[in-house]
Amino acid sequence: MSKTFYIETFGCQMNAHDSEKVIGTLERQGYARVQDEVDAGLILYNTCSIRDKAEQKVFHRLNEYKKMQGEGKRFAVIGCVAQQEGEKIFERAPYVSLVAGSASYRNLPEMLARLEAGETRITGLDDRQTDETFETEFTARSNPHRGYITIIEGCDKFCAYCVVPYTRGKERSRTAASVLVEARKMVDEGFTEIQFLGQNVNSYRDPSGRMSFAELLVAVGELPGIRRVRFTTSHPRHFTRDIVEAIDATPTLCDHIHLPVQSGSSAVLKAMAREYTRDWYLERMSWIKAAKRDISITSDMIVGFPGETDEDFEQTITLLDEVKYDAVFAFKFSPRPNTPAVTMADSIPDEVKTERLRILMDRQREIQREHYGRHLNELQECMVESHNLVRNQVVGRSSQNKTVNFTTAVLDVLPPVGSYLPVRITQTLPNCLVGEAVAAGPDVSDGMFFIPTVRKPQFVVLN
Ligand code: SAH
Ligand code: SF4
Ligand code: F3S
Repeated sequence: MSKTFYIETFGCQMNAHDSEKVIGTLERQGYARVQDEVDAGLILYNTCSIRDKAEQKVFHRLNEYKKMQGEGKRFAVIGCVAQQEGEKIFERAPYVSLVAGSASYRNLPEMLARLEAGETRITGLDDRQTDETFETEFTARSNPHRGYITIIEGCDKFCAYCVVPYTRGKERSRTAASVLVEARKMVDEGFTEIQFLGQNVNSYRDPSGRMSFAELLVAVGELPGIRRVRFTTSHPRHFTRDIVEAIDATPTLCDHIHLPVQSGSSAVLKAMAREYTRDWYLERMSWIKAAKRDISITSDMIVGFPGETDEDFEQTITLLDEVKYDAVFAFKFSPRPNTPAVTMADSIPDEVKTERLRILMDRQREIQREHYGRHLNELQECMVESHNLVRNQVVGRSSQNKTVNFTTAVLDVLPPVGSYLPVRITQTLPNCLVGEAVAAGPDVSDGMFFIPTVRKPQFVVLN
């Protein structure tokens, strides 16, 4: 087998970041990455199993791989479908040599050695026992300005519909010290934005007991050179007020919280085993809305969970109206293997799910059309992501994680990718903002610029 590899990644940000760590580990072991599977000795497929017959898609793709057999190629299936299907993958696709879930990646060097020695049925499967996390200093981050750090892996929540506790293992956090070492190293390498990752990032518990989640956010936000700290995904059950206070007090913490609600009906939330009610969730919304900064809120929703009535669904729509999210990722309930919901009658016909999804997205688009209007004429700090030369625009991202397309007439040169600059918002659309870069003001030093989006007066002084 030639020591070249090709990797394809599906799924969430945790999977994308796992691939960065897997790539770094392979490179460390002397493998060279190629961009075309035809040139690769080892083909890795990092899979996702969250919805929609994911395992069937994997086997379909593996069938395509089969056509490449006989060219000395080896195949590895890793990630959530690997963990879920386990050794069954060898039965259905005997040309696969390695099947490994994410909780076993720390053993990759050893698994690779066995692969090189000619073994053909290597497994790295998790039994929900391990307390270890996958930490490596050899992470091949794809973006030189903005990078992920996994602070907590796995999930112990067992929501009735979800595969993640079965595919990602037990909930386990890294020590705050090791997170800070990684963050400092990234800053030294020139990263200005760090995003903490975890299936439930705010369930973080420092094994050394030194820092709470909010304290860790602040500690990284205060590293000299850091401009932005993000975190995803938060779980309402463990969402505490100190997170909002930390954002208010620390300008480098981005003013955005992704807090998936899943449903606006307490009855459905109970059936989903989410362990909170609509009112509990709305109380957390009120904390966020009472903040001094304008904190953007986004969510995930599921429509058509078994037993969801028209009245339940209506509660989800009224929740949208009440919260006014800046973005919602909505999905039709999809029965998944091993989960409790798979044994509940999937009572909602697909046409009804489709219709509810359409109603939800239409309503949300209207809300965003109106709610994004609050940004008109605001001055927003944007990080440059790319240049759209066809439209003569720069594509940037705001602290609230919104896309801002802007022109740069006042500047002599195109601002480089990764730089930050002030942009006046001139138009708002339901999914993005449009603006115009403004000339550097007095608070600009060394090309660095920062304006926290404080829109509400902090104190009213009466005398
Ligand atoms: N840990 C996060 C969610 C991670 S999964 C949380 O608890 O909020 C990402 C999203 O996929 C979920 O928020 C949910 O909306 C969706 N999802 C998960 N399982 C699903 C299923 N079986 N059918 C449809 N959507 C699902
Ligand atoms: Fe899945 Fe629930 Fe865990 Fe989120 S909290 S990953 S939805 S089981
Ligand atoms: Fe998919 Fe696994 Fe992420 S199922 S969404 S890749 S945790």
